[in-house]
Amino acid sequence: MTQGGIEVDLDVERFPVAGFGAAPLLVVDDLHTTFTTPRGPLRAVDGVSFSLGHNETLGIVGESGSGKTVLSRSIMSLLPRADVEQTGSVVFDGREMVGAPAKELRALWGAKIAMVFQDPMAALNPVVRIGRQITESLRLHLDLDRREATAQALSLLGQVGIASPEIRIRSYPHQLSGGMRQRVMIAIALACSPRLLLADEPTTGLDVTVQAQILDLLVEMQAERNMAVILVTHDLGVVATRADRIAVMYAGRIVEIAATERIFGDTAMPYTRALLESTPRISNASHTRLAAIDGRPPDLSVPITGCAFSERCPSATERCGIEAPPLTSARDDPTHLFACWNPLPGALRVRSASKGASS
Ligand SMILES: Nc1ncnc2c1ncn2[C@@H]1O[C@H](COP(=O)(O)OP(=O)(O)O)[C@@H](O)[C@H]1O
Ligand code: SF4
Ligand SMILES: [Mg+2]
Repeated sequence: MTQGGIEVDLDVERFPVAGFGAAPLLVVDDLHTTFTTPRGPLRAVDGVSFSLGHNETLGIVGESGSGKTVLSRSIMSLLPRADVEQTGSVVFDGREMVGAPAKELRALWGAKIAMVFQDPMAALNPVVRIGRQITESLRLHLDLDRREATAQALSLLGQVGIASPEIRIRSYPHQLSGGMRQRVMIAIALACSPRLLLADEPTTGLDVTVQAQILDLLVEMQAERNMAVILVTHDLGVVATRADRIAVMYAGRIVEIAATERIFGDTAMPYTRALLESTPRISNASHTRLAAIDGRPPDLSVPITGCAFSERCPSATERCGIEAPPLTSARDDPTHLFACWNPLPGALRVRSASKGASS
């Protein structure tokens, strides 16, 4: 397949993009990100492969420490280069991002790929009025003059639901509420109409009502702008109604990925089931206590033998502690991949061999 002038070797079994056309916007292939730490190499991202369609929303879900943020930053090539080793490939719109020159990456950031972080206070400049923080990106990437950029910034603030934008445009970040700051971050991210928006826990720390408003705003903006979204969260409830597909991460790997309804309706991985059961809004609306998954995710600086979930898994067998299960597809749905020797009983979920499955 040819994309953006570059030949992309797409193995549809390995990179299924359910219902979003044959040419993905993003193809991540066997991505590894390893930190050098005093305790040895820490494999934060350990062989992740997936693709993303134009206009698709992919939810990436996993407990704290599973590698979601490092994966997001690795996709963006936003990690510091010292003490980090990155291998594999991230092809965005036909261009290889891994190892691309900084100048090329800077031209993509903000313009074609934008990111919304968990903590807007850390991402916004505290001593610059928010209007200028939006217009700077517009002027840099879209070559607008000051007046055009200000008009555009006012319009964006209105679109993200900020009342009285002509007053707010002169505010400093600390003068806004947490929810408003996150709306400003979204306005900045959307300023240049990116093709891909990566939102890493964009509503963690906000109260539940504001969370829902911000997430719904993201979905609305995505539909209006024909943009793909990667929504990263520890909370399956956040993506349940908003993502087309869900990838579940554990110990730096994707352990299950499928269309959202399939993840909920035909869960294969015991870990995904455990996450579902820890999400009260989904499993049982009247149940308010989070059912914790026993144990903790493994220390990623210690080499893992077998399945990384084996010490916590109620379905574990001897083989699980010895051999890592490869990511393979369900026979009745090649877009449903899971890494488990003993998948949960479900309709027709017979393992089939998948070439190129990561192990
Ligand atoms: N700069 C870093 N140096 C060393 N280890 C890191 C660094 N950043 C993240 N990690 C480690 O990588 C793993 C994945 O972290 P992270 O991606 O932040 O998890 P999540 O976002 O899923 O909570 C964790 O074990 C974390 O301690
Ligand atoms: S491979 Fe074994 S330990 Fe891992 S999730 Fe499946 S059953 Fe559990
Ligand atoms: Mg994180």
